[in-house]
Amino acid sequence: MSLASKIKEIFSQNLLDTLTKIGQIAENHGLKAYAVGGFVRDLLLEKANFDIDIMVEGDAIPFAENVGQELNADCKLIERFHTAHIFLDKLTIDFSSARKEVYRRPGELPEISFSNLRDDLYRRDFTINALALSITPNQPFELIDLFGGESDLRKGIIKVLHTNSFLDDPTRLYRALRFADRFKFVLDSNTEYLFDKAIKISAPSTLSIKRIAAEIDKCFKEKYPLSLLNKYRSSGLLEYYHKLFKGQTRPDFSFSMVRAMTTRLKSKFPGIIENAVFWSLLLSTLPLSEAQTLLNNSGLPHSVVLQVTSALSSWQVILTKLSLAETKLEIYNALKDACPETLALIYLKNKNKEIENKINQYVNQLYSIKPSITGKDLVEAGIEPGPQIRQILEKIIEKKLECPELTRKEELNLAGIPNI
Ligand code: CTP
Repeated sequence: MSLASKIKEIFSQNLLDTLTKIGQIAENHGLKAYAVGGFVRDLLLEKANFDIDIMVEGDAIPFAENVGQELNADCKLIERFHTAHIFLDKLTIDFSSARKEVYRRPGELPEISFSNLRDDLYRRDFTINALALSITPNQPFELIDLFGGESDLRKGIIKVLHTNSFLDDPTRLYRALRFADRFKFVLDSNTEYLFDKAIKISAPSTLSIKRIAAEIDKCFKEKYPLSLLNKYRSSGLLEYYHKLFKGQTRPDFSFSMVRAMTTRLKSKFPGIIENAVFWSLLLSTLPLSEAQTLLNNSGLPHSVVLQVTSALSSWQVILTKLSLAETKLEIYNALKDACPETLALIYLKNKNKEIENKINQYVNQLYSIKPSITGKDLVEAGIEPGPQIRQILEKIIEKKLECPELTRKEELNLAGIPNI
């Protein structure tokens, strides 16, 4: 089957038309354009990948602006990196200029200069990611395979393009394990040798915490994060994130429960952030102050940092309260201020069935019980603002936990203001 037919089959006629149009616009500008990277790799594997990278031999910025205008799509330019994104329905298409990279110092970001297709493919991590698909009308949907990527895909092999690859960019050590784990591929023997050698000379120590955290974050987005995380542990890659992970070589099976747990909590807490649960679980094995510093330096999105901070700082205290809680009110009070990520973390850290039952009871039954009258109602009814308002509301909640069908009128009676 031709690659154009594959795009139509795996994605849609629409995407095929869009890529054809982009190819035509490139030709009108005298440029050659290619789809590159993960999109092409996954197309050959017959998997849908909606991260589409287009590379042009020339300046990508004016080209992307033009594509944006002609396709009536928003275009965002990132001048510093000479890249641009256009937003088309649910798709984001990234544009970059073909470039050559020179690594002045291992582990640092490279210096880049405009170049051609070959240099751009050669600067990439693995042969399977160094495939290009021409989209210009003179070579429509033709595969460009300069380094044997297609055959490596068929054989299930992860292979670097040159000897210095892991040293130039040690994030590729994490990436090699990630792609091998995701596709059930193996490292080719020379790549494995270079991998071991890079670990032996501590190549990842040249990476910033942010770059390592970004790799771990991608691990948490994989289908089977536990399997990959174990490989990071056993290969020694995790300890470059924090030295205290060094001794932790045993798999922690709780990681395989995060997704199911988050999905379950989502029905009651739609805002729960799955990645924040993964991060909380990983960082919970470090002393709190170390975990917090590491988290603050990891460059994760603010929303994730907030939830992880909350979970790490509160889960142990809440767990102690919950162990002592016996009545519905005590369970409710122990958990009422916990964010959903904290609930998930307590559940995952704890191996005690009784605690599990209490969390289930809270989530399934107690959490949604709220008085229908508010503090404002009480103040309007003439009750002095102050601790008594909280006491009255607590009394109503206590009653409601036992008898959820309590009406507003009955709540008002309990508050001692029957005539509001
Ligand atoms: N790339 C590279 N070296 C890196 C990171 C990226 O050579 N350290 C190249 C690869 O060609 C890769 C492309 O940039 O295919 C896009 O990078 P990224 O989006 O991170 O990877 P994908 O291959 O798309 O992986 P995924 O499927 O996980 O999104």
